Amino acid sequence: MSVISIANHKGGVGKTTTTVNLAAGLARQGHRVLMMDLDPQANATFSLGLKKQEKSIFNVLSFGEPIRAIIQQRGVLDIAPSSIHLAGFEKNNDVGKEFILSEAMEDIRSDYEFILIDCPPSLGALTISALTASDYAIIALQPEFLAIQGMSDFIKILRTVKTRMNKELELLGIVATQYDSRKVLHKEIMEHTRQTYGDMVFESSIRGNVSLAEAQSMGQDIFEYDVNSNGAEDYASLTKEVIKRTIELVNSK
Ligand SMILES: Nc1ncnc2c1ncn2[C@@H]1O[C@H](COP(=O)(O)OP(=O)(O)OP(=O)(O)O)[C@@H](O)[C@H]1O
Ligand SMILES: [Mg+2]
Repeated sequence: MSVISIANHKGGVGKTTTTVNLAAGLARQGHRVLMMDLDPQANATFSLGLKKQEKSIFNVLSFGEPIRAIIQQRGVLDIAPSSIHLAGFEKNNDVGKEFILSEAMEDIRSDYEFILIDCPPSLGALTISALTASDYAIIALQPEFLAIQGMSDFIKILRTVKTRMNKELELLGIVATQYDSRKVLHKEIMEHTRQTYGDMVFESSIRGNVSLAEAQSMGQDIFEYDVNSNGAEDYASLTKEVIKRTIELVNSK
């Protein structure tokens, strides 16, 4: 069983698109998967076609309700939805609140082979809670100017969380999103990233593909919306790599 946070404090870099379609990819391979939406924007929840939910992960974090009580089933995927109320969690002053999620997840860890957590674009208490509850983090990297600096800042945060809150946490990999191999800047940034982080960069890159955005607006994952699209091909390839890496890491422990 692996809990994976998809994170980057930079906004609009493909975290949600990656969480949703990687979760769908893993479920299509026959794995039991929970997609947890930890962003008050609830983009992942809505992009899988769920409407506004009466109960969300907010009820778990703020009222101590069990996660099972808020999980929704959607086809082969289970979803722990978010809501705008979750924004309040960043502001409250409860001592040790970053551990609440991890503790609440003890109940359900054995129910799933993969739990994927979509993080908000910040380094606040929600992202720290997700990392505290995770075995792995995947960084979504849009190869644009200043992205590299942002990523190295994020990797420092990962190290701090590992030291102070969660010894199990490892970086599973860095995935390039909205990648265009014809753009010199994109190629240069990814070459530099591969030089710096080596094998940590996934071989699969996610190309810019309008079907990915269209799928979200239809409330579908990319395999439902257009299984022959570049987006489906790229996320299927990332899915295989994620399965391979988690198996290798579990065996090496
Ligand atoms: N590979 C892609 N090709 C085309 N469009 C994409 C791709 N990946 C993401 N998008 C689009 O880019 C926008 C931002 O993507 P997404 O919501 O996944 O980013 P995010 O990092 O989760 O954003 P936020 O930080 O606000 O949570 C969305 O409109 C999405 O549909
Ligand atoms: Mg998002």
